[in-house]
Amino acid sequence: MSYVSSNRKPLLSRKATNDGHAEKSPYFDGWKAYDKDPFHPTQNPSGVIQMGLAEHQLCFDLVQEWLVSNPEASICTKKGVDKFRDIALFQDYHGLPAFRNAVAKFMGRVRGDKVKFDPDRIVMSGGATGAHEMITFCLADPGDAFLVPTPYYAGFDRDLCWRTEARLLPVVCHSSNNFKVTRKALEEAYAKAVEANISVKGLLLTNPSNPLGTILDRDTLREAMSFINEKNIHLICDEIYAATVFRQPDFISIAEIIEEDQEYNRNLVHIIYSLSKDMGFPGFRVGIVYSYNDAVVECGRKMSSFGLVSSQTQYLIASMLSDDQFIGKFLLESAGRLATRHTDFTDGLRQAGIKCLNGNAGLFLWMDLRGLLMDSTVEAEMALWQVIINDVKLNVSPGSSFHCSEPGWFRVCIANMNEETTKVALERIREFVLRNGNKPNRKEKCWQSDLRLRLSFRRMDEVLRSPCIMSPHSPIPQSPLVRTRT
Ligand SMILES: Cc1ncc(COP(=O)(O)O)c(C=O)c1O
Repeated sequence: MSYVSSNRKPLLSRKATNDGHAEKSPYFDGWKAYDKDPFHPTQNPSGVIQMGLAEHQLCFDLVQEWLVSNPEASICTKKGVDKFRDIALFQDYHGLPAFRNAVAKFMGRVRGDKVKFDPDRIVMSGGATGAHEMITFCLADPGDAFLVPTPYYAGFDRDLCWRTEARLLPVVCHSSNNFKVTRKALEEAYAKAVEANISVKGLLLTNPSNPLGTILDRDTLREAMSFINEKNIHLICDEIYAATVFRQPDFISIAEIIEEDQEYNRNLVHIIYSLSKDMGFPGFRVGIVYSYNDAVVECGRKMSSFGLVSSQTQYLIASMLSDDQFIGKFLLESAGRLATRHTDFTDGLRQAGIKCLNGNAGLFLWMDLRGLLMDSTVEAEMALWQVIINDVKLNVSPGSSFHCSEPGWFRVCIANMNEETTKVALERIREFVLRNGNKPNRKEKCWQSDLRLRLSFRRMDEVLRSPCIMSPHSPIPQSPLVRTRT
C-alpha cells in the first residue's frame, strides 16, 4: 500500500505510518505462527500450542452457571429486556452508578477488604490498554518519560507511547535478586534520564508482575513511594493481576501502602485496573483508572469519552460483581485452579530439568532456559525461540520481547488451555530436552547448569531458514493483532 500521494505529500499521518504499535516483535510473530498452524487435539495434533496468551480460561464454567441463573442481568433475555431501552440510551461518561459501586467493591474485595475504593474516583476506559494511554495523556507531554522496571509487559511500549509520544525508560533488574526493583536501580535510571535531559514524569510498576508472576513486597512498595515522593513524580501501579495471586504471600496493593502512611503524597498515585485477567474478560474491555488526584479524575473522565465501556457491559458487570456469594466462590475457586495448574506445570518442567522463577501470581511462568543457549546473547535467545516455536511447536514468548536484560528467559502462559493441551505441551518440552540435552536427573530439584542444548549450528540454520517462519511483514488473513493482545 502506498503512503505517499502523487504530489509526494504523505497521505497518512506520522502516527499511522510509524512503528509505534510495535507489531514487528517476536512477541507478535509467535502469535502469527500459531494462527498459521493452530493446535487441535484431533484435527491438528502437531500444530502450534498457544502459550503466548495471558488469558484466564479456567473458570468460565462458573461464569456460565451464573449467567444461566441470572438471566435478568442481561438485557438480551426475556427476563432482562425491560431494561433494554434505558441501557441502549445510556451514554453518561461517569458510568452507571451501579457499575462504579460494584467495581469499587470488587477492587476492595480482591485486595482482602483491607482498603476501600471510592466509586467517584473510578474512571472508565477500554481495558487496561486504554487506561494506560489515558493516564499517560493526563500526566505527560510528548518526550516526557516514565521509568519502568524490566522485564515488563510488551504492550506498554505501544499503550503508553505510541499515540501519546511519551517514552519508557528501563529500570534494569536482574535474576540475581529475582528481578526485584531496588532503590539503587531506580536512582540509576533516574540519574541517567536527568543526564540525558529527559523529563521523568513517573514510575510505572506492575504488581503482580507480567511476565514474572511475582508480587511486590511491602518494602519495595514503600521504597517506590518514598522515591516518587522525593522526586515529586507520579506512580502508576498496574494491578490488573491482583486476584490471580494463588499462594502466599498475600497481594499488597499500593492503596494499602498509602493508607498506612499518611505522609505519602497520594496525589501522585494512580492505579490501573481491568477485568481482563482477574475475571478472564478481556473481550469486555472493562478498564479502570483509579486516581487519588482530583484533577486527574476530572480530566480522565472527560477523556474517557474516547473509550467508554459499553452500557450493556456495565449493566451485566454491575450485577455480576454485586453478587457477593458468587464473587466469593469465584475468587476462591480461581485461586485454587490457578495454583493447581501452576504446580502441575512447574513440576512437569522440573522433571525435565527446567527451573522457573518462584512465582505466586499471574497466568504464566517465567521459565529459565539460560542453560540451553549457545551464548548469552539476544541472538542466541532468538535462535532458541525459533526452535521452540517451529520445531517444538510451542508459542512461548522470549524474554527480550519484555525487555529482559538477561537472555534465556521465556514467558509461558498456562491458564489459556485445558488440561489435555497442558499435558501435550509438557510432553513436547520433555521430549525436546531429552532429545537435545543431557538426560535430566528426575530427582534433581534445581536447575542443571550443564543442561546445554546440543543443537548444531547447521540445524539452527535450517530452522531459521524454514519457510514456516513467517515474516513479520506477511499479510495474514486473521492477524492476532485485530484481537486485543495480552
Ligand atoms: C500488565 C498488563 N497491563 C495491561 C494489559 C492490557 O490489558 P487489557 O486487556 O485490560 O487491555 C495487559 C495485558 O496482558 C497486561 O499484562
